[in-house]
Amino acid sequence: MTKPVIKWAGGKTQLLQEIKKRMPTYFNTYYEPFFGGGALFFDINPKKAVINDFNQELINLYKEIKNNPLDLIEELKQHQINHTEEYYNVVRSDFNIRINDPGSLSIKDAGELVYLNKMGFNGLYRVNLNGFYNVPSGHKKRCVLFQEQNIYEASEALKKAKIICGDFELSCKKAKKGDFVFFDSPYYDTFDTYQRGGFTTEDHKRLAKLFKKLSKKGVYCLLTNSNTDFIKELYQDFNIDVVKVKRMINCDGKNRTGEEVIITNYRGDELC
Ligand SMILES: C[S@@+](CC[C@H](N)C(=O)[O-])C[C@H]1O[C@@H](n2cnc3c(N)ncnc32)[C@H](O)[C@@H]1O
Repeated sequence: MTKPVIKWAGGKTQLLQEIKKRMPTYFNTYYEPFFGGGALFFDINPKKAVINDFNQELINLYKEIKNNPLDLIEELKQHQINHTEEYYNVVRSDFNIRINDPGSLSIKDAGELVYLNKMGFNGLYRVNLNGFYNVPSGHKKRCVLFQEQNIYEASEALKKAKIICGDFELSCKKAKKGDFVFFDSPYYDTFDTYQRGGFTTEDHKRLAKLFKKLSKKGVYCLLTNSNTDFIKELYQDFNIDVVKVKRMINCDGKNRTGEEVIITNYRGDELC
């Protein structure tokens, strides 16, 4: 089974089984407008997909995996050989030269993103107010950035996907009856490190409006979020399941249990 190529905050690996058992049995095109690490996409390997994320460096990486997996592997091998604490800072500075200029992104940036993600602190993607990537080194001894077979499999899966970089709303414009959209936006009420400005309350309302609009069109929708009154109120007309998740608390390393919601606009394969 194909695994995400990078570790992404909010990654869905833990909730995968809960999500999969709630997916519709049959659907046409698979949409994932908040792609991140794409845990569900890589796991289910849909026959046709539209994937999107706001993050330009991330989307550049997926385009390179799709089109140039061999070159990416070569880039990653070089990073593995060169890795030291000092090298991490050199790569980060280089990555920041092009970070605010999406037109200049290339295979080099794709390799650097994987390296920084795997060797940085906790797989975070964080930028400062000026838009520069500022995640410190994770001080890891071993530098293992990829599994060759997994990159090839990810490349094959991405060949069946249209890859878009932009706002979630636009990327779902062409979704039609019988398609399936998996919405995994940044959660409500959590500190958002994905983008400058964060995912606001207004964005959550905009997302709920889109969810309703797609429901009327006959598009199957499944959405995950935090278990809060605000979210439950936004989606009160739909099917809401509360699921338990383990959360790592960094300061003492212990697991705590939290609750999230999985919201669908269908039961079985019947739309609400
Ligand atoms: C919770 S993560 C998705 C995690 C993903 N499901 C996984 O398994 O790794 C949310 C993603 O939404 C993206 N994002 C934030 N705001 C967005 C927007 N307005 N439109 C599209 N993507 C956005 C972030 O860049 C981030 O990658």
